[in-house]
Amino acid sequence: MHIHYDVTQSQFSLQAGNATYALKVSKQGLLQHVYWGPQLSTSGTGPSSVPIQERGYTPNLAGAPNGISLDTLPQEFPTYGNSDFREPAFEIFQPETGSRILSLRYNSHTISEGKPKLEGLPSTYVECVEDAETLTILLEDARLQLQVELHYTVFPKHPIITRSARILNKGNQNLEIRRALSASVDFDAELSDYKFVQLSGAWIRERDAHFSTLRPGVQAISSQRGTSSHQQNPFFALAEKGANETDGSVYAYNLIYSGNFLAQVEQDQFQCVRAQIGINPFDFTWQLKPGSSFQAPEVVMTYAADGLGGMSRAMHRFYRQHLLPIAWRDQPRPILLNNWEATYFDFDANKIESIATSGAELGVELFVLDDGWFGHRDDDRTSLGDWVVDHNKLPDGLENLAQKVKAQGIEFGLWFEPEMVSPDSELYRSHPDWCIHVPDRPRTESRNQLVLDFSRSEVRDAIYARIAKILYEVPITYVKWDMNRHLTELGSLRLDATQQQETAHRFVLGLYEIMGRFNQEFPHILFEGCSGGGGRFDPGILAYMPQIWTSDNSDAISRLRIQYGTSLAYPLSTIAAHVSAVPNHQVGRTTPLRTRGHVACTGAFGYELDLGTLTEAEKSEVCSQIEFYKTVRPLLISGDLYRLKSPYESQEAAWMIVSEDRHEALVTHVTVLNEPNAPARRLKLQGLSSEIKYSVRADGDSYTVSGDVLMHQGLFVPQASSDFESIQWLVQAL
Ligand code: DGJ
Repeated sequence: MHIHYDVTQSQFSLQAGNATYALKVSKQGLLQHVYWGPQLSTSGTGPSSVPIQERGYTPNLAGAPNGISLDTLPQEFPTYGNSDFREPAFEIFQPETGSRILSLRYNSHTISEGKPKLEGLPSTYVECVEDAETLTILLEDARLQLQVELHYTVFPKHPIITRSARILNKGNQNLEIRRALSASVDFDAELSDYKFVQLSGAWIRERDAHFSTLRPGVQAISSQRGTSSHQQNPFFALAEKGANETDGSVYAYNLIYSGNFLAQVEQDQFQCVRAQIGINPFDFTWQLKPGSSFQAPEVVMTYAADGLGGMSRAMHRFYRQHLLPIAWRDQPRPILLNNWEATYFDFDANKIESIATSGAELGVELFVLDDGWFGHRDDDRTSLGDWVVDHNKLPDGLENLAQKVKAQGIEFGLWFEPEMVSPDSELYRSHPDWCIHVPDRPRTESRNQLVLDFSRSEVRDAIYARIAKILYEVPITYVKWDMNRHLTELGSLRLDATQQQETAHRFVLGLYEIMGRFNQEFPHILFEGCSGGGGRFDPGILAYMPQIWTSDNSDAISRLRIQYGTSLAYPLSTIAAHVSAVPNHQVGRTTPLRTRGHVACTGAFGYELDLGTLTEAEKSEVCSQIEFYKTVRPLLISGDLYRLKSPYESQEAAWMIVSEDRHEALVTHVTVLNEPNAPARRLKLQGLSSEIKYSVRADGDSYTVSGDVLMHQGLFVPQASSDFESIQWLVQAL
């Protein structure tokens, strides 16, 4: 048993790997947070009560003894209106009376093996019921006959708890949900000087890690763009003051959701810290009719005592085993060649065939035809939605092209942007009302396109049919699923006036439905997520697509920060990374081919340039990169990441991946700006075994050394001779 219920104390103790989470039912029937942190004894007692103390301006809860105020009680699913003035997790509006007041009290609970699926939403899974245990607590507002099911799942092998909430209207009046976050945890003042860690940025500079000290009041990140976005990510962590890659307590939250989210931390008047995440209440309401229910997304909560590195490894392992699509999660990802940066829209069949051939000759395993193959799409002003081959560019059609590519011994992949429509398209001319819009208002175009209303099943069905036809007809084993704008004029023709603020969430539900359908029907196809690069890099997408195009910025030096930040939450196997041409198309920088290879080959590896234009020496280097990647590829799928030097802190970056059995490791070091006459730099490795002797190889040199020497004395980094140099060491047990 990993979930223990102590009847005498009405307390639940959840054992999650080497962490414990405890909560209890108070005498008033309130669900009270007790503890989250390093493992406590399984008896489930622990520090169960908060001191009861009457304080000014914190009103007592009606009917409760003096000193019991919701404003100071640590809670699990707080509501507003009766003595808690902090940010609530849940808000209801009663249209008949205008009341927003709620009193949720414990009703009952169950503890069961395994983990239920979430209706309509992606979630983490187990294949054997023994791999997880779930506590379901039913809270109820007796007056409204409104119920909330809180689900807590623990995975004994992981320091992870997942939480979600389901709201049920058992009464006979319409209710409106105004806020339904997925999790809320009330920490005490011990966390008041923790750092808030967030991944924020913009297009071509996604997921930069930011650290800020908690302060009184609310600190929040959110998206109201309709997607999880380039600008923010549905991840945050609270890291102990002084925590680093190896030491310190860290609590992380990651929402399995691809739409508008809110993640916030509130430090109250007594320095207690409330940390919450869920669907963004901004421009969101949900009509909860009698008899209906609403499912809030799942949140993955991680506790690590061994710093940010420990947090990341725990999340990576968990996602590799319990989130990524089963068909792909353990499979080596094909080394691909994508034509986007090689041609943009300017190509014909000959050009594409020649690029694919040059890739096949050098050893790539998959050629991907990007945007521009359909309708009459010679630029980004047209044809989205018309998923019919452009015979001007590809006169013999797609199937013929795919067969020619396959004849070279490599697979064929294709780009789609299923959620979009161009105003200049047959689809739009036939169905101008299929896009998200508000009647009588101008429709904002972004990249000259509109967003299809995926909340509507007939729209999804039509798009599914058009794309599936191609996937049946053409031998395609990979699809790049792009999404190149955010949502505006949010409204849906199929929803009544009271439901218009459901549009953004219904769009995401529709997206999940159609992605699920594609996964089900085409399990042999590897779907790669993309949204103008990494604009939708979140666990919701990863549940359907095991890798995501990390950024439209393919410059190796920019990628140091982007991939480093992304790796805080997401496994390397999910981080798609390509070698592209120089000068780089996004930042104009010229970096060595070797460095571009080193940076890209610690992700889902590929190329994005015309390999045919390279010199013979460069081609031979590409061949070696590909051969090398094939040998270290298993590390990417199941190895552990150790970040050694942060590109945020200095002019160098270093990281390593270690196999589960610690027998093999790949270490990468990149110099950003070279320092003249620099001090000798050492790189202390991590995650190896002290007892094992390893061979260390780099650039033709090799020597033997024990793991403890590598970890305590470290490797000397050779002095770079110019900017942007890199080195990789392969460490293998003898
Ligand atoms: C944005 C993507 O991130 C790029 O890789 C490319 O596929 C373009 N869209 C195509 O329009």
